[in-house]
Formats: sequence, structure tokens, C-alpha cells
Amino acid sequence: MTQPKSDASASLRSEQTHVLRFQLNGEPVVLAVPAHWSLLEVLRYRLRLTGTKQGCDKGDCGACTVLDNGQPVNSCLILALEVEGHDVQTVEGLGVGGEPHPLQRAFDVAGAAQCGFCTPGMLMSAEALLNAKRARGDTDIDTAEVAQALSGNLCRCTGYTKILSAVEDAWRGAR
Ligand code: FES
Ligand code: FES
Repeated sequence: MTQPKSDASASLRSEQTHVLRFQLNGEPVVLAVPAHWSLLEVLRYRLRLTGTKQGCDKGDCGACTVLDNGQPVNSCLILALEVEGHDVQTVEGLGVGGEPHPLQRAFDVAGAAQCGFCTPGMLMSAEALLNAKRARGDTDIDTAEVAQALSGNLCRCTGYTKILSAVEDAWRGAR
């Protein structure tokens, strides 16, 4: 049976790849990606960086949060080709030389992770907040601003209190 024209062109489109160049955790990356793949799909299924989690895949849970030019974004909602020339950071880029990042250490000490599924996204949103505060020259932190910064990240285990405390501890400990 002849394939309907619309199906044939759809499958042709799905095969199309484009060269994507960007910085990932400080390293240059060049790879060919299908035009319709999300950044999350490229990170997890092409680059095997599985720290970034695939939760809802529709922008609701924040488990897929990464930094795109320093801004927290849901990588499930961005086409990979949109980060052409950008600087992307994932949770794998947080620690240096095998040493945990202050946020990771604070989460550990505070017991802010249970199943851990939300943790990479929480850490990336928190990192964006602390970077913005440092850039502004802030000297203190309050729970409300941390809650606002993490409002797009859902956790079904911890009740949030320890997560918010851990971010505040990381800010105070790193100053
Ligand atoms: Fe992206 Fe849930 S997986 S917001
Ligand atoms: Fe399990 Fe947050 S620690 S979802």
C-alpha cells in the first residue's frame, strides 16, 4: 500500500538532523541532532548525562531544570537547536574535580533529598538564585526568596522545608 503523502513527509522531517554547537559544562560540544528533539532528549539520550531528570515532559515538575546562559529553564520545553552558541550547565557541571558543590554538600547535611528525583532540578534552580544574588551583591537571604526561586520545582518526598534550609545554609556557608 502506498504511504499517504503527509505521512511520508512527516517521516522525512523526523529524519532531518542539524549540527548543534554549544558549550556544555564548560566544554564545547558539536553534534548532529534531529530538529524536533528537546534539549532534555539530547542531554539524556545522546550525551548520556542522566543527572537531568525526565519527569512530566511538559513543563510542570522542574526535574529537567538546567541553566541556559545562566537562566534556569525546563529543558523538556526547549528544542535542542535553540541553545546553539549558548552556555548550558547541568547538574554534572556543579561539582569540581570530584568535590561536591556547596549546594550539594548542604543538601546532604540537611537531609534535603529522599528519593532524589527532584534534586538535580532543585540544585540548578538554587544555583541560579545564588549566582544572581552574588551578582547583585546581596548580603542576606530569606526563605521567601528561596521558595520563589524553587517554585517551579516539585518534590513529592521532602515537604520542602529541608530543601529551603539547605539553600539558605549553602548561601551562608559559602560567604
Ligand atoms: Fe520538564 Fe517536568 S520534565 S518540567
Ligand atoms: Fe523525592 Fe524530591 S526527594 S521527589
